Amino acid sequence: MNAPTDLPRYDPSRTYDWNYEHAPEPVDVDVPEFEGAWDFCGLPTASPLGVAAGPLLNGRWVRYYASLGFDVLTYKTVRSVERACYGMPNLVPVECGQMVGGEREVPAASTMRGTWAVSFGMPSKAPSVWRADVEQTRKLLPRGKVLVVSVVATEQPEWTVADLANDYAQCARWAVDSGADAVETNFSCPNVCTSDGQLYQHPRYAAQCAERVREAIGKTPLVVKIGHLRDEREAEAITAALGPWVDGLVMTNSVAAPVVDPSGKKLFGGAPRGICGAGILEASLAQTRLVRRIVTQRHLHQGVKPAALVGVGGAFTAEDVRRYFVAGAGSVQLATAAMMSPAAALEIRRTWHT
Ligand SMILES: Cc1cc2nc3c(=O)[nH]c(=O)nc-3n(C[C@H](O)[C@H](O)[C@H](O)COP(=O)(O)O)c2cc1C
Repeated sequence: MNAPTDLPRYDPSRTYDWNYEHAPEPVDVDVPEFEGAWDFCGLPTASPLGVAAGPLLNGRWVRYYASLGFDVLTYKTVRSVERACYGMPNLVPVECGQMVGGEREVPAASTMRGTWAVSFGMPSKAPSVWRADVEQTRKLLPRGKVLVVSVVATEQPEWTVADLANDYAQCARWAVDSGADAVETNFSCPNVCTSDGQLYQHPRYAAQCAERVREAIGKTPLVVKIGHLRDEREAEAITAALGPWVDGLVMTNSVAAPVVDPSGKKLFGGAPRGICGAGILEASLAQTRLVRRIVTQRHLHQGVKPAALVGVGGAFTAEDVRRYFVAGAGSVQLATAAMMSPAAALEIRRTWHT
């Protein structure tokens, strides 16, 4: 059976709110088996294939992709307060080769060939809305599908890192109380307590937040989403800081770069945006390889359980999934590929052995 090609998908020409309201219904298709025994942080799954935080705006999107052969479903990042989406455009195709980080700019393209700049600003419904939705979603999802809820803290002026940690912990606890099987904390959020950079680039703060979340959710699996690491020293530092608190590391969020239109005009007011899709595959694979080496060495030296690695970034095909396994990931999640082709997991399953 070839995967269906006419499946509904996110429409980038419409607003986030429109897409939130127009989630497709689950479909009834044959899902080819993915041979082997798989799990996500110890929770058994039928395959190692997941959807990363982003494409699943709400429970209906979760159930749609679950019906299409994805087994680990990440509910798009939510907050302790309601937050509107950035204005359009939210998804701008770009023309680039493989990103390495530190690019001064990336040109926008007129057609989507696999890589785009993502500009949503992590919108969130009010907690009362997403908590009720997570609860209903878990009830409706078949057993064996893992529902991960991605959370982020919403920094306020004058906040300390302890305040930020408490906000992460509050969201995480709400997610678990609503039925989430696992929590993902998004540590690739910028401007942490007036420091430059992102939380994952401040290992001490990141550890403080992870410890507080761990305290709040007990033994529920906890994974942390991190962004592009600049060098081995940065990889060592964040891995050591998070190791005691987390079950897994999810990467790479994106590679950030400013975007310019064909006339050279800066988009998004010149601020960098996360570049996602095909153009970050090699950088994300390289990062997975590096972190795998570091966590394995740490494991050997300290006798601690090495964190599971979730490969994210530029995966489209069965061959990409295989390369993530070789790099050291235990499972793989898609965002861009799943949005461009909702049948991506069906196609990966169908071609896994060919
Ligand atoms: C439309 C869209 C929305 C996203 N929203 C989030 C988000 O809310 N939280 C998050 O941690 N990552 C978000 N991401 C990043 C993805 O989870 C993923 O890390 C990134 O897209 C790289 O994977 P890909 O190359 O398969 O797209 C988003 C990505 C896309 C494409």
